[in-house]
Amino acid sequence: MRAPARGAWASDTGAAGVVHFWAPFLYRSPFHAETEEQECERALRHLEDTIAFEGPQTIAAIILETVPGTAGIMVPPPGYLTGVREICDRYGIVFILDEVMAGFGRTGHWFAADGFDVVPDLLTFAKGVNSGYVPLGGVAISAEIAATFDQRPYPGGLTYSGHPLACASAVATINAMAEERIVENAAEIGETVLGPGLRELAERHPSVGDVRGMGVFWALDLVRDKETREPLVPYNASGEANAPMAAFAAACKRNGLWPFVNMNRTHAVPPCTITPSEAKEGLAALDAALTLADEHAAR
Ligand SMILES: Cc1ncc(COP(=O)(O)O)c(C=O)c1O
Repeated sequence: MRAPARGAWASDTGAAGVVHFWAPFLYRSPFHAETEEQECERALRHLEDTIAFEGPQTIAAIILETVPGTAGIMVPPPGYLTGVREICDRYGIVFILDEVMAGFGRTGHWFAADGFDVVPDLLTFAKGVNSGYVPLGGVAISAEIAATFDQRPYPGGLTYSGHPLACASAVATINAMAEERIVENAAEIGETVLGPGLRELAERHPSVGDVRGMGVFWALDLVRDKETREPLVPYNASGEANAPMAAFAAACKRNGLWPFVNMNRTHAVPPCTITPSEAKEGLAALDAALTLADEHAAR
C-alpha cells in the first residue's frame, strides 16, 4: 500500500464516490469573504457549483455536521443550513445532519438543527443521547423515508441494534435532561459565562485569535499574530514545532483542566450539567495557561 502523502487525511484516503466541498468558516474563509453574509452566499454558490459539476442525478445525499466539532467548532452563518436544505429539495438530494457531537443539548438546543430552524431528512446521534453510560448511536429518519420501509425490510442490521439496556439508558437520560433542565443550563452557561468569559480572554491574550461557539461547545483559535491569523503552531506540527501547544496543554493539566487540543486550537466543551462556578474555574485555568501561549504571539 502506498504511504499517504504528507498532509493527507489519516483515515479517509478518498472513499469511492464521496465528493468533499468547503463549508463556511469566516475566520479562515475559503472564499476570501469579509462578512458572514458573503461567506454564506459564496459557500452556498460553491456547493451548488459542485452539485452541477458532479451532476445532481449522481448525488444521493449531502452530509454535514450541523456545527462541525473536532474540525474546529465552526458555527454556520445565519441562512447557510436553510440554504443547503433548499438546494437539497431543489435537486432531490437527501440532507443528512450528523449530530453525534452537536446533538442532545451541547449547543444549548436539544438538537443543534433546532437552533438554525432546519429539519434534515436523516439525523445521526450518539454520545449525548445517554451521556455515554453504555455505547449507543442511532439515526432519526424522516416520516417520508421511514415509510419506504413500511412494506419491505430495511436492508441493514447490526449485532446490537436496539439493545434494550442501551435504549433504556437513553430514555432515562432524556427524562433526566428534561426534568433537570439540562439543555436550558447548557444554553445559559454559554450565554452568561462561557461566551462572555472566553471573549474576555481573547481581548486580554495576544495568542487568542478567535473565539467561536454556542452553548457548551466552544473553540479558541490560537495564533502567533492576530493580524495575520498565523496559527500558533503549523498544520499537523509535532515535536519542537508543536512546543507552544504542548506547553499550553501541560499548563492546563497542572491547573486541573483537561484540555482538548487539536493543532492550534483548544476547545472548551464541558458537560451540559456544568455549574457557573465550575465554568469560571475552567476559565481561570485557561487564563493562566494562555499566558504561556502568549510568549509565542506578537503583542
Ligand atoms: C461528529 C461525529 N460523527 C460521527 C462520529 C462517530 O460516531 P460513532 O462512533 O457513534 O459511530 C463521531 C465520533 O466521535 C463524531 O464526533
